[in-house]
Amino acid sequence: MEFSVLVVDDEKNIREGLGKALELDNYNVLLAPDGSKALEIINTSDVDLVITDLKMPGLSGQELLKQVASAYPTVPVIILTGHGTIETAVEAMRDGAFDFLTKPVNLDRLSLLAKRALANRKLVLEHRALKEEVEKIARRQKFANIIGKSPEMKKVLEIVEQVAPTKASVLVTGESGVGKELVADAIHNLSDRKERPFIKVHCAALAETLLESELFGHEKGAFTGAVATKRGRFELANGGTIFLDEIGEINQQVQIKILRVLQDKKFERVGGEQTIEVDVRVISATNRDLKKEIAEGRFREDLFYRLNVVNITVPPLRERREDIGLLVAAFLREFSEENGKNILGIDPKAKSAIYGYSWPGNIRELRNCIESAVVLAKGSSITLMDLPPSVASETEGDYIRINLGSTLAEAEKEIIRGTLNFEKGNKSKTAEVLGIGRKTLHRKIQEYHLVEE
Ligand SMILES: Nc1ncnc2c1ncn2[C@@H]1O[C@H](COP(=O)(O)OP(=O)(O)OP(=O)(O)O)[C@@H](O)[C@H]1O
Ligand SMILES: [Mg+2]
Repeated sequence: MEFSVLVVDDEKNIREGLGKALELDNYNVLLAPDGSKALEIINTSDVDLVITDLKMPGLSGQELLKQVASAYPTVPVIILTGHGTIETAVEAMRDGAFDFLTKPVNLDRLSLLAKRALANRKLVLEHRALKEEVEKIARRQKFANIIGKSPEMKKVLEIVEQVAPTKASVLVTGESGVGKELVADAIHNLSDRKERPFIKVHCAALAETLLESELFGHEKGAFTGAVATKRGRFELANGGTIFLDEIGEINQQVQIKILRVLQDKKFERVGGEQTIEVDVRVISATNRDLKKEIAEGRFREDLFYRLNVVNITVPPLRERREDIGLLVAAFLREFSEENGKNILGIDPKAKSAIYGYSWPGNIRELRNCIESAVVLAKGSSITLMDLPPSVASETEGDYIRINLGSTLAEAEKEIIRGTLNFEKGNKSKTAEVLGIGRKTLHRKIQEYHLVEE
């Protein structure tokens, strides 16, 4: 790496003398007679080190130092001072100078200082690159929190990645336990607001009267018990993201106030006159059917459209059964470790119960099921006995369950999956039982993404 060193001095002799000396050290040397010319060079070319006189016509060395320190904090600045101006040098150090040299300049010391300053800069840059890489990995890991390889989940993750960097309001819908909150986490963590606050509000957990003041804050004396002014969650989320969970539960009054924040970025605290302005990205979630809530007059349509600029629907687990295997593996590892157990696997009966169950509580239910199974397991594998009765009982007979409301294709998919499981993956037998050819079976396995479990 060839370093560029900029020497700034209004005295031509000094400037050129120092420049010559630095060239001997194999640096690319740039010269400037005053501060403003120096800034021009710094702004237009890569400068790795600035060596500057303090007293110069126009922009002084002090000023130059301040500007470089704030705009290019990784570029070191060495100050040149005359005799008897040590005080100014000390001041310059405080302003962020790397070091100072007294005139007349000792060229050996110049050489040494330049070398040190540049080595330091190299370290700073390397550290910064490393930090960026770690952040990138961390970001990817945050994403990897969401386990799933089914086409349905891939689609969800694709949208997450697409909308994360925008400011668009996102409404995450889906049944209870499908991972709506994880999706909200991922959107925030992948956005450029990730270093700013991420405030979560469980709208259903708060009493209706409390919710408004929780969200928007209140002034002292606004109501009995409001003994001091309190900032609301929207204020706390300023610059960042707010997650309004279970948005379907909020009352009309609060709906209007949220609508106004989304439209004008403005609101007042409860009992307050002063209008507060915020820049907040809104992600909301619900397992209710908001269209129905609107039709029945419980939810404002205009608010719905503001919240639902982008919709992400997380499908229930029974519609993406190929994720079960990965999820089970991940939860097994997590809870084995947590409980200090060495669970190596799941016996075939328990496995077919897990794969056959409809998981109405979705991933939360699966997670809880694996946790309790790990705790209960006596040996090194999970057996049918370790599973909750609801899960275990559904496979006692040789049958599968297909929920009403399924399409014919979904039913076909389930029959093929169930038979494959029952025949322990033996495709010839499965084809025979189903009364179709092996080729047809293969095609359908691919079509339905029925990877072997
Ligand atoms: N794809 C996934 N990978 C790993 N864990 C998941 C996944 N989806 C959900 N989980 C886990 O399942 C549990 C429920 O997820 P989450 O709280 O995000 O669901 P939800 O949709 O918000 O549910 P609710 O509507 O009940 O609030 C959490 O423990 C979460 O970590
Ligand atoms: Mg939730």
